[in-house]
Amino acid sequence: MACAAGGRSRFVMADLTGTPGSFDKSSLSVALIGADERRRGEMAEALSGRPGVTVKEYVAFPHDLDELPRLLEQHYDVVVVDADSDSDFAVQLAENLLASGKTYVMAYSADPDVRLAIRFMRAGVREFFTLPLDNGEIAEALIRASNRSTAPPEPARAASKVFTFLGTKGGCGVTTIAANFAISLAQESERSTLLIDLGLPLGDAAINLGIVPEFSVANALQDPTRLDSNFLNTLVARHSSGVGVLAAPSDFQADQPNREFLDKLLGVARQDFEFIVVDLGSRVDLMDTALFASDAVIYLVTQVGISELRNANRMITRFFPKRDWGLQIVLNRYKPATLLFDDKNIEKALTRPTQWRIPDDWASARRTQSTATPLALDDSQISLAIRQMARIACGLPADREEKKSLFSFFR
Ligand SMILES: Nc1ncnc2c1ncn2[C@@H]1O[C@H](COP(=O)(O)OP(=O)(O)O)[C@@H](O)[C@H]1O
Ligand SMILES: [Mg+2]
Repeated sequence: MACAAGGRSRFVMADLTGTPGSFDKSSLSVALIGADERRRGEMAEALSGRPGVTVKEYVAFPHDLDELPRLLEQHYDVVVVDADSDSDFAVQLAENLLASGKTYVMAYSADPDVRLAIRFMRAGVREFFTLPLDNGEIAEALIRASNRSTAPPEPARAASKVFTFLGTKGGCGVTTIAANFAISLAQESERSTLLIDLGLPLGDAAINLGIVPEFSVANALQDPTRLDSNFLNTLVARHSSGVGVLAAPSDFQADQPNREFLDKLLGVARQDFEFIVVDLGSRVDLMDTALFASDAVIYLVTQVGISELRNANRMITRFFPKRDWGLQIVLNRYKPATLLFDDKNIEKALTRPTQWRIPDDWASARRTQSTATPLALDDSQISLAIRQMARIACGLPADREEKKSLFSFFR
């Protein structure tokens, strides 16, 4: 913090709208708001005695000024409020200011009652002073405020994203692709990723990843009133790649999952994880849940075969006729020239082009299952294709090196 000369000036609140927005960021600009002149004067004295601190005093809270928090945070690094003048409004103002996290809020009071201080601290006020003021305390608080105002802003957390994998028939490869996609996504993006296995009954995503989970989706859906971040965290198993796994139940379940409960699970998961990958097997009964919300990306996994392509055609025309980029077709176990189907026939059957082609690689798939080492961790043709899917999904460009060799696997 540069040691520019400090200063003190007095304003009515209406002046705020006309205050120029350019403050020297090497100094600390402070708005001091308090109706009581004696208390405000004592605080102003203590603040403006510090080098580099510029204080502007305001004599009252203008209750009718809706824009107040926005204006304050535009012009000031620190806002100091009198907690005794109108404590309800002061608490409200502090909460509004803290919602955007740009301003450091302090309060002062002549009342030694600790309950008042607790109320302000709960609202997020960082420093609470009781009169008579201790100059040392004020100096330390200003240093904390200054360090905070020069710290780089924390990167904003991107909105979470849901990727739902749905197969046109059992055995299409949904679990293989979803589980390996989750690992690639976590590795490529370095963001928190959760894999939820809804491939009931007896989904096997966890087994494929070599995890023996203690808990499952059934525990999460049992009691939605208990379901919060903490509870979800105790149910999630961790794969060595860092991916969280909420496994399918290891036994047959009498009840189908309640749609509302499932939406709640997804809502809680979205608070804690940036990417949520769902293995849905080939269930179409959850079509009206958040798994298929308009901001979810659906990967429809199919193979080149008469019944798979017929099912794919029915699913696309019935459930997703209007979904554009949010529906991506994955052709699994793709071999370039099969006798019955060329690329044109496949596109015709699906009513749209395929986005992804995962090669048929029996040896790699087999190796993965016998060692429980995810494909994503090796460099097989399957894993290279899935890695491209994951990179595009999290907004990264396709690997340039692999782009050439894998040109036939994605468009
Ligand atoms: N691209 C592929 N090449 C070869 N085998 C594959 C491929 N994708 C999946 N498999 C194998 O197909 C079988 C079924 O895959 P799985 O992912 O369990 O399907 P689903 O979850 O749709 O029932 C597994 O034995 C898996 O190893
Ligand atoms: Mg499966």
